[in-house]
Amino acid sequence: MPEMIKQRQEGIFLPFAPTEYNVVGEEAIAVHWKEEELIQPKEEFIRQANMTDVGIYERFSEKNYPECFKEYADMLDWDRYWTETLDASNPPFFKWFVGGKLNACYNCVDRHLQKYGNKAAIIFAPEPEDESYQFITYRELHRRVNEFAALLLDMGVKENDVVTFHMPMVAELPISMLACARIGAIHSEVFGGFSSKAVAERADDAESKVLITMDSYYRSGKLIDHKARADESVNLCKETKIEKVLVWERYPGKYSSSAPLVEGRDYLINDVLENYRGRRMEPLSKPAEDTLFLMYTSGTTARPKGCQHSIGGYLSYVAGTSKYLFDIHPEDTYWCLADIGWITGHSYIVYGPLSIAATSVIFEGTPTYPDAGRSWRIAEDLHVNIFHTSPTMIRMIRKEGPDEPDKYDYHFKLMCTVGEPIEPEVWRWYYDKVGKGEATIIDTWWQTENGGVIGSNLPALRAMKPGSCGTGMPGIYPIIFDEDGNEIEKGSGKAGNICIKRPWPGSFQTIWKDPDRYVETYYSKYSKLGSKDYRDYYYFAGDGAVQAADGSFRILGRIDDVINVAGHRLGAKEIESSSGTNEEVAESAVVAKKDPIKGTVVDLYVALKPGFEPSKELEEKIRNKVGTDIGPIARPSSVYIVPDMPKTRSGKIMRRVLNAISNQRECGDVTSLANPEIVEVIKNKVQGQR
Ligand code: WTA
Repeated sequence: MPEMIKQRQEGIFLPFAPTEYNVVGEEAIAVHWKEEELIQPKEEFIRQANMTDVGIYERFSEKNYPECFKEYADMLDWDRYWTETLDASNPPFFKWFVGGKLNACYNCVDRHLQKYGNKAAIIFAPEPEDESYQFITYRELHRRVNEFAALLLDMGVKENDVVTFHMPMVAELPISMLACARIGAIHSEVFGGFSSKAVAERADDAESKVLITMDSYYRSGKLIDHKARADESVNLCKETKIEKVLVWERYPGKYSSSAPLVEGRDYLINDVLENYRGRRMEPLSKPAEDTLFLMYTSGTTARPKGCQHSIGGYLSYVAGTSKYLFDIHPEDTYWCLADIGWITGHSYIVYGPLSIAATSVIFEGTPTYPDAGRSWRIAEDLHVNIFHTSPTMIRMIRKEGPDEPDKYDYHFKLMCTVGEPIEPEVWRWYYDKVGKGEATIIDTWWQTENGGVIGSNLPALRAMKPGSCGTGMPGIYPIIFDEDGNEIEKGSGKAGNICIKRPWPGSFQTIWKDPDRYVETYYSKYSKLGSKDYRDYYYFAGDGAVQAADGSFRILGRIDDVINVAGHRLGAKEIESSSGTNEEVAESAVVAKKDPIKGTVVDLYVALKPGFEPSKELEEKIRNKVGTDIGPIARPSSVYIVPDMPKTRSGKIMRRVLNAISNQRECGDVTSLANPEIVEVIKNKVQGQR
């Protein structure tokens, strides 16, 4: 055994000479990181890992594509087995496991009852520490999901209707998701921290008639009054009439919101559920290619994109990756700190882990409240052994309590990071302190559109390399192109646009109601549009990346007008258009400013219409408007009112110049601008203000 392990650990990565990456293209991908050394997983980890067979990479190599993905689909229970693994006859619209039928809720709940019925499926950790943990066994989950599914049907929710959610991090969120899945309805959860306007836009787009929300929840010691936002959302809907608002109570039987209930529209779920005690609903057998959920994400226009995810392909992919990559065993206690309102929570708190009978922890609060030891107390209390979070959280926890982990008795076997590039130095703190030098780390690269992780190392099979996500996941073949579509060779030190060569089951099906935008955004840059051969299509991820000689990828960040704040994608256009709704504002430009904790924060530059004067109050007003339109996460850290924007002769705002000013870098040659003199003026203002 040790010999086998040694063989696996060696020869996987070739030796390489340290290089510095070139600076290519947009500022966003200009990074100078040195090559890092490799760190091997501990033998103890390898011994217990789900996937220790190096042969998997061969099994999932191009010559076995697409049949290789049968291995993931076979982790599920199918009511009817599929007849065709991949139908690529109409690229880039790909269909997986065609002819198959299944139910996602059945796969995440019912099928575990016999073996794991009395084991916790979900552990809810409330924010107030004097409230006890709630252990929801698979049997209890089954009961609650069935009863709620029956209630939904009686509320008029039909198969393939989209139900919009605006829910915080509570067990009732996955219960609602699974109930929808059970009756074949599509759910669309909007991140709980987003504004009522954001909810209304998404509900309009999805034509939802039912909104599911909660009266209140805890955040940093405060009970947030959440139901009031639902009333605003309903009023803000332009195209759709939300007929019913279903309200969970944070404390069942004790309505905790100041917002009144609207007769005939609002229902307290816990009250109505009284009539559904013991009710069972047969899970609806659904075609694999039907839609499980929508997840809206930011793009380069102000309108969010409803990423439409399938049942069969998606669930297969998240089951497979939860098992092989996140190494979840039914005996483990797995805790992912992401919010279920983002894709990470959908795939790796709810669907992936539950599909393989995991115990998944849901935490209501923030990891640094009331103090930086909070996460480690939860880890100790619950014997968490797989811990999953984002670089922003890691930086935050480190800042608040760099030595806090030492004080607690917990042991992680695996730790995960997702959402943004992690600096090697932060990675090392995560490894040494949080992981106590014992845990294996996986850096997982993917996007809302992808359904599941597409770039990462299977933890027992590849060495760790701080700052790199690793290679393509099995069956995923990333490739880096330059602007002209030439492949950039690995080890060249050059950055380019990372793309994926072949479709995979977890990938979204299209953008809800907007197939043209789907093709345009993801397949127009490097694909031969019109071709009937699916091999002519390359998925364009919109991230810059470099590939080291050893094959591992380092993701450098977004190259489009999307800003990644604390691991969440915000559309620059969305923020700019919100700013533009202030009557004083003539023009707005958003840039990403580097921040030691959040990685990136939003700087907003604004030029006013004639007749308006800059003032502190106006800056604050614009900042608050963005906060209410989109959500607190999008609130600019600074608003700079400037006399004019730097512009090209054709009138385009030069964000590159503003970006350089915000980040205290040289602006480069600005002589070709229409108004080069403005650059000094803005620079003095911004840098003087700091
Ligand atoms: C970034 C989150 C570096 C990337 C799952 C991507 C990452 C965007 C990583 C997607 C990583 C995600 N290393 N960057 N491990 N993971 N990103 O849609 O820019 O919220 O395009 O999905 O986050 O964000 P999204």
